[in-house]
Amino acid sequence: MQNQEVYDELVSKFEKMYGEKPQVVAYAPGRIEVLGNHTDYNEGYVFSAAIDKGTFFAVSPAADGTCELTAGDFMETAKFTTSTVAPAKEMTWQNYVTGTFNWLFDGNPASAKHGWKGMFLGNIPLGAGLSSSAALEMCTALALCRLYGIEKDKTALAKIGQKAEHTFAGCPCGLLDQASSMYGREGALVKSDFRTNSFETVSMGDGVAFMMVKSNAKHALVDGAYASRRQACEDAAKYFAGVLRKKVTHLRDVTMAEWVLYRGGLSETTAKRAAHPIGEDERVLQGAVLLEKGDLNGFGALMYDSHESSRNWFENSCEELDTIVDAAKAIPEVYGARLSGGGFGGSCCLLVDPSAAAKISAQIAKEYKAKHGDEPQISLIKPSEGAHIVAG
Ligand code: GLA
Repeated sequence: MQNQEVYDELVSKFEKMYGEKPQVVAYAPGRIEVLGNHTDYNEGYVFSAAIDKGTFFAVSPAADGTCELTAGDFMETAKFTTSTVAPAKEMTWQNYVTGTFNWLFDGNPASAKHGWKGMFLGNIPLGAGLSSSAALEMCTALALCRLYGIEKDKTALAKIGQKAEHTFAGCPCGLLDQASSMYGREGALVKSDFRTNSFETVSMGDGVAFMMVKSNAKHALVDGAYASRRQACEDAAKYFAGVLRKKVTHLRDVTMAEWVLYRGGLSETTAKRAAHPIGEDERVLQGAVLLEKGDLNGFGALMYDSHESSRNWFENSCEELDTIVDAAKAIPEVYGARLSGGGFGGSCCLLVDPSAAAKISAQIAKEYKAKHGDEPQISLIKPSEGAHIVAG
């Protein structure tokens, strides 16, 4: 479904359900992660982009303190009041919205003047590693800010979404997904520095596009693997802080050369985990220079290196994602490919020559099917505008 169709369907379902037009509608896109994996919570660098698919959140005020929230796709409704907002164990989709509402009011949503009636609908494939949950948080945040007249900047809203993930959804994520959804720009990559939380956009030249290839492998970041990787990075940072004669608070502060010299004091597994974000930071910085020169092959080579690092060091790839990257590597019109986002399933992001898109997808689908028996979902992605208010 195109975005306009999603919007029309949402508004019509909202009117049917609540008997009025929504007062505010906001939109937030999903994201692709292009280079820099698991660097955000290590205060490192990432290249990402907002995509042309997203989620809309429509809302109107309630006369009293009641809140009603409907998932517009399967028309399930959660009911609560401004003073009973809490993480839910059933209909857990509501946690992205209620968590955001909670933190918009600093953990005290009972202080909101009134409740609301809300509904959301989107077109980001779920479980694809395209950050449908961050999109939901960000459109909720924008819509509720407008509804209540709250003024907050984009980074503050991104942090509110991240806090909702940590405390309501149970995923200890970094800030990448929410920031990419907020700061995306048409035709551009977002280059993030998660130490300073600065976000700049870098235009992509013409003649280049991204292709997302969604494996059919399960992708769930709340089941512990993500958290254990994050923990290993934090343990490694503590170790390096003890052995290096400089200030180390995060792996951002450690170079690959230092890792080579001092890794011996870490367990084999922790050393492997640490190598990934350290290498990724260096790749993003190199990638920025190559992009400026228009060197797509050079940038793409770094994407392949990034995947290798995921495969061997961070071990957040899986057979299905490896099949996609290996197939991509054999196609000259693919500049680079790697897994995108948390990993353990989900999607790969390919940098491609769009004029060869049909050939590339046919080739990858063929090899994937031969190995795994089914076909991956493949789509061309246009870097797109970030989150914004659509109506009201
Ligand atoms: C997920 C998390 C992000 C980031 C990526 C990996 O998408 O939500 O914060 O850590 O994984 O780079």
